[in-house]
Amino acid sequence: MCGIVGYIGKRNALPVIIDGLKRLEYRGYDSAGFTILSDKGEYITFKKAGRVTDLEESIDFEKYIGNVGIGHTRWATHGEPTDANAHPHFCMEEKIILVHNGIIENYKAIKSKLESEGYKFKTDTDTEILANLINYNYKKTNDFVKAVQLSLGGVDGTYGIACLCTDEKDKIIAARKGSPLLLGVGDEEFIIASDAAAVLSYTRNVIYLNDGEMAIVTKNSHTLKTIEDVEIIRDIQVLDMVLEQIEKGGYKHFMLKEICEQPESIQNTFRGRINFETGVAKLGGLEKVLPQMLNAKRYIITACGTAWHAGLIGEYMIEQYCRIPVEVEYASEFRYRRPIIYKDDVVIGISQSGETADTLEALREAKKYGATTIGIVNVIGSTIAREVDAGTYIHAGPEIGVASTKAFTSQLMSLALITMMIAREKNTLFSKTLREMAQELKQIPEKIKRMIDRKEDYKSVAEKFRKSKNFYYLGRGVNFPVALEGALKLKEISYIHAEGYPAAEMKHGPIALIDKKMPVVFIAPKDRTYDKIISNIAEVKSRKGIIIALANEDDDNIKNYADYILRVPKTLGIFAPILNIIPLQFLSYYIAAMNNRDVDRPRNLAKSVTVE
Ligand code: F6R
Repeated sequence: MCGIVGYIGKRNALPVIIDGLKRLEYRGYDSAGFTILSDKGEYITFKKAGRVTDLEESIDFEKYIGNVGIGHTRWATHGEPTDANAHPHFCMEEKIILVHNGIIENYKAIKSKLESEGYKFKTDTDTEILANLINYNYKKTNDFVKAVQLSLGGVDGTYGIACLCTDEKDKIIAARKGSPLLLGVGDEEFIIASDAAAVLSYTRNVIYLNDGEMAIVTKNSHTLKTIEDVEIIRDIQVLDMVLEQIEKGGYKHFMLKEICEQPESIQNTFRGRINFETGVAKLGGLEKVLPQMLNAKRYIITACGTAWHAGLIGEYMIEQYCRIPVEVEYASEFRYRRPIIYKDDVVIGISQSGETADTLEALREAKKYGATTIGIVNVIGSTIAREVDAGTYIHAGPEIGVASTKAFTSQLMSLALITMMIAREKNTLFSKTLREMAQELKQIPEKIKRMIDRKEDYKSVAEKFRKSKNFYYLGRGVNFPVALEGALKLKEISYIHAEGYPAAEMKHGPIALIDKKMPVVFIAPKDRTYDKIISNIAEVKSRKGIIIALANEDDDNIKNYADYILRVPKTLGIFAPILNIIPLQFLSYYIAAMNNRDVDRPRNLAKSVTVE
C-alpha cells in the first residue's frame, strides 16, 4: 500500500510528483506529501492528511521550484493519518529524507537501539525510524549509498523507498523488498514510482527493481545494485500501455468505465488462446508446467478478496470438468497454518495487482515445499508474475477503481481457458463439448454488451434500494461465489452491510433476519439448481423479504416470485458467473454513486494490499 514517486531531471519536479501521486492514489489516500530540493538549494516539504487533491489545493506551486523531489500518498499502517505522520519523514538531524511503502517489522528494536544512541522521534511511524537508522549509518560511513545498504540489511519487513540526503544533493536512492518499485528512464530525467501509471505521461521506458535491489539515480545517470553492493546490469523494458488506458475517458468513475470495458477486456483474455472450430485452448505461459498440471493429484488456489471469489469459481470449474480435486485458500490463512503441501501439488495464485503480500507469501511458501506455482495475474512484470514457475496474464488492462470488476471477469475467463485446456488433455470432456464451449465463449463479449445496454434497468433497481441498510445475496453451486462477490462489491463501495450465502443455508440461521425491509438478491439463472432456488425464493417471500432476482432473459416464470428482476443472457455453466456478476457490479456502482460515495476510492481501502 502507499504510493511513492521520485523525480530527478530537467523538469520542475513538483508537477510530475503531484501527477504521479494522483495516479497512485488507488494505493492509499489517507495523507500525502512531498519534499523538493529548490533552485536555491533548500529542501522544502509540505504534507497533509487527506487526499492528493487536498494537498494540491493547499500549495502555491510557485514556491516549490526545483528539479529533484520525492512524494508519497499513504495508506496508514503505523500511526493515524495525521499531518505529522504523513510522508516524507526526516531523521532527527534532517539530513535524511524518506518516503516509504511497506512495514518495518523490527521497528521497535531499531527504535530502542537508536534511542540508546540519543535519537528522538516526532511521529508514530516506522518510516521515521528507518530515516534515523540511515542517518546513524551515514554518520559511521560518510557514504549515502553504504548507509542505505547497511540500514536495509538490518531491516525485517517490507519496503519500497525513495530517499534524499542533504549532503549529496543531486541524488535519489530507491530500493525495494516486498513493495513494488520501478524506474522510468526518460530523456535526461528519471522517475521512481510504485507503479507504471505514474511514469507513463513522461516515458514508456522502465526498469523494474527486484527484491533486495536499489537504484542510485542522478540527473544523468542511474546505477543498479543489490543491497549487498553487487552491481546489476538490466535492460530497459518498453511499457505496452498507453495513457488513455489509465484515464477516465468521459466516464464519471473508473469503476463505471471498467464495468463497461468488459466486452473488450474479456476478449483480450481469450484472444489467440482458443481455436473456435476445434475447441482447443492453449495458454503459452503454462506450457512448460503442463506435465505437472496433468499429473497433479490436486490443485490449491490461493488469493484474497475478489480474486479469492474467482478461485472458488475456479474450483467448481476444474473439479467438474477436469475431475481434479481443488482446494481454495485465503492466502492470509494458508501461509500461517503449516499447510500440507506436496511436491506434486500445483498451487495457483490469483492476483490482479500481482503484488498482494499475502498471496505472494503463500506462493513463496508453496515453492519452499517444492510445489509447482502458477500465477493468474493482470499487472505485467509484477512480483507474483516474476516469481512463479509459470503463469498466464489475464490482459484486462489497467484497473484503477479500487473495487475489482473487469479483472474479476478476466480471472474467470482465464480459469475457464485453463479448465478447457486441462480437460482436453485429460480427456475428461468430449471434443464436441469443448467445441460447444468454444462457440459459446465467442458470444460472451456480445452478451456482456447486451447487459451494458440494459444498465438503466439495473440503475432503476438501485434507485429503489439505495437507502436499504442490509442486503442478502444468495446463490447455489457456482453462483454461490457470485453471491459473495456481489455482496463484497456493495459493502466496499457503498458501506451498506451485505452478506453472501449459499441459498439453501438460509434455513440454518440467517433466515431469522428476513423481514419486509430486507432486500434479497437471488442469483437464479436457469441451470440445474433452478427449481431448488425457486423454493428458496418462496421461503424468503413467505417471510415478507423483498426479492430481487437475477434471471435469464427468457425466464417468464420468475415474474411469479420476484419483486424486481435483473435480466441476464443465458450461457453455459462454465461461463455463467462471468455474465451473472455484471448486473451486480452495476447495482453496487449505482447504489454507491447515488449515495455520493467516493466510488473509486472507498474509505479505508487501497487497491494494492502490499502489507500482510
Ligand atoms: C475487491 C478487491 C479486493 C482484491 C484483493 C486482492 O473489489 O479489489 O478484494 O481483490 O485485495 O487483490 P489482488 O487481486 O490485486 O491480489
